[in-house]
Amino acid sequence: MPANKDDGGWKKFLWNSERGEFMGRTGSSWFKIFTFYVIFYGCLAGIFIGTIQALLLTLSNYKPTWQDRVAPPGLSHTPRSEKSEMSFNLNDVETYLPYTKALKDFLAKYDDEFQKDQMKFEDCGDEPAEYKNRGDLEMDVGVRKACRFSRTLLGPCSGIEDRDFGFKEGKPCLIVKLNRIVNFRPRPPTSNESIPVDAQFKVQPNVIPIHCTNKREEDAGKIGEVKYYGIGGGFPLQYYPYYGKLLHPQYLQPLVALQFTNLTTNTELRVECKVYGDNIDYSEKDRFQGRFDVKFQVNNL
Ligand SMILES: *[C@@H]1O[C@H](CO)[C@@H](O)[C@H](O)[C@H]1NC(C)=O
Ligand SMILES: *[C@@H]1O[C@H](CO)[C@@H](O)[C@H](O)[C@H]1NC(C)=O
Repeated sequence: MPANKDDGGWKKFLWNSERGEFMGRTGSSWFKIFTFYVIFYGCLAGIFIGTIQALLLTLSNYKPTWQDRVAPPGLSHTPRSEKSEMSFNLNDVETYLPYTKALKDFLAKYDDEFQKDQMKFEDCGDEPAEYKNRGDLEMDVGVRKACRFSRTLLGPCSGIEDRDFGFKEGKPCLIVKLNRIVNFRPRPPTSNESIPVDAQFKVQPNVIPIHCTNKREEDAGKIGEVKYYGIGGGFPLQYYPYYGKLLHPQYLQPLVALQFTNLTTNTELRVECKVYGDNIDYSEKDRFQGRFDVKFQVNNL
């Protein structure tokens, strides 16, 4: 029967006792093939591991190798809602509770009690000063101290006395920080040219100024006075450079609090805030690079 014949052929293929072949090959032939593949894949793995090791050797633990794409820094603010909209009613706590809660949570990590350790923190002054050099990134001095930043610097926006951060009176606070970039030294503007006239007085040697204004023509005169709290009303240079997570684990970014003290009520306002510096640019694509904008709608009816 054909089936039996086939079966026999199959068995013969598996083990051919006449020729001493297993699946069509002799033992020594199998051994050669096996050895070939072991060496072949061994070499492949070796090349693979070798390349990765070589690449890792060129990387520093402390400093990102490719950094040109992240600088300049983003400007971020708290509270930050979807669509950058802050809409609330003075007479209804519920409407601004999410904002004051976000501020409270954000500022909690700036509490004095976390900045007590003399080994980890130092005072860097309440006035803008030069960059604080703490040695090269590669130097073997280990973890660097961080500058203290006290919440009291934020005045009425510190949340210490006014737990509503001004929202109750229709004078909301925003807290702003420059996103950290390892080894970045923001440079203050060297000329007044690119800076709006009413912000030019803020140009000082050791601070990155920040300025907010109406984003749309039609909101001119409706934003009211904006007050700036923090060291020098901007980002003071003594907090830079930042040495990265490993070397600067306690690092605190300097903060600026903005208080919008006379926003026109019951209307939508668009405000844009920008930082100014020689190495701070803005991008069409990234709305948070060196600036941000926020929509206010303060109702009191
Ligand atoms: C910019 O203008 C302000 C006030 O008008 C002035 O005090 C400051 O020195 C100027 N800065 C530069 C870099 O020109
Ligand atoms: C607030 O703004 C209004 C105009 O929108 C103005 O008349 C008023 O004087 C301002 N108040 C303060 C304290 O600046």
